[in-house]
Amino acid sequence: MSFSPNSPILCNLPRVTIVGAGRVGSALAQRIAEKNLADVVLLDIIAGMPQGLALDLMEARGIEIHNRQIIGTNDYADTSGSQIVVITAGLPRKPGMSRDDLLKTNAKIVVEAAKNAIAHSPNAIFIVVTNPLDVMTYLAWQATGLARVDPKGLVARHRIMGMAGVLDSARFETFIALELGVLPADVKAMVLGSHGDLMVPLSRYATVNGIPITELLDAATIERLVERTRNGGAEIVELMQTGGAFFAPASATSVMVESILLNQSRLLPVAAYLQGEYGLEDVVIGVPCRLGCGGIESVLELTLTDEETEALHTSAQSVRQNIERSQEILGNNK
Ligand code: NAI
Ligand code: 2OP
Repeated sequence: MSFSPNSPILCNLPRVTIVGAGRVGSALAQRIAEKNLADVVLLDIIAGMPQGLALDLMEARGIEIHNRQIIGTNDYADTSGSQIVVITAGLPRKPGMSRDDLLKTNAKIVVEAAKNAIAHSPNAIFIVVTNPLDVMTYLAWQATGLARVDPKGLVARHRIMGMAGVLDSARFETFIALELGVLPADVKAMVLGSHGDLMVPLSRYATVNGIPITELLDAATIERLVERTRNGGAEIVELMQTGGAFFAPASATSVMVESILLNQSRLLPVAAYLQGEYGLEDVVIGVPCRLGCGGIESVLELTLTDEETEALHTSAQSVRQNIERSQEILGNNK
């Protein structure tokens, strides 16, 4: 028995490149392939490592029942034609390392990754994961050349974004669900602002199947859960000692990839370049965005209380300071 030859059929299957095949990158590759969302190219500077991971993931396909290709590579030429590029390359913070050290190292890595990736996938949508997240997203946006002003005087920003808010919101939802003993999927919450101590969890908008948590929990308990959310990344680093979270970060990134590839228009907290929204300009920070096939379809401007607005502005101020510092490090004249 044999298959009869046919003229080749060209299938343009969606392709997602992940730059950085470390813990977050490899877990994300697994999520994307096993959710059957796209073929995946895993790229890393370490020779052989992404190739080995890709082979391992390919060998699970029969068991997980999908037919997605996973390619491991050290060469950007293999990433060409990607619809989405996710940048997870860079160091996680290690004991004794200052935020400034991390900024210096990762700024150069992210800029190089963004330039190389866009050269081979000029129409790709970029999702940055590397920390410090909001600053790295800004740098990637500059490095890709997407920082152009259109004829209406607006800056193109829809094709570049950072992942943090989906993760931070998932953590807040988890802690609420644990406190109340309810299904995590029934809890909905939104965390805005920068990814770090100055994030802005919006308790007012957190609900359990539509019921505000303010009806279910007292103020002191909510504040305790908010604090735990702010400290969510550090809590895991402290427990693990050797690196940080990667399962939930990979899940959170895959939700953004899915909303874009399937044009779901989900309303998610995303680190986006702001041009006046929330009274903020020329800064990247987490705000609610609709994510569809074009990337960021729109930014939702919520009516915030004075206290929430102040917290968001404080958060933005710290990102701006780090953006300025990164411009000095990279020798950019702004
Ligand atoms: P990891 O150390 O496991 O992986 C990083 C990978 O990047 C390594 O395999 C390394 O070889 C690679 N890499 C370094 N320089 C590169 C270059 N120039 N080109 C290509 N690859 C390069 O780290 P992990 O845990 O995967 O975290 C990655 C980044 O994501 C860190 O900066 C971490 O802080 C951040 N992160 C951000 C989160 C968020 O919510 N935005 C959540 C979790 C992690
Ligand atoms: C996290 O929040 C460290 O950004 C990383 O887990």
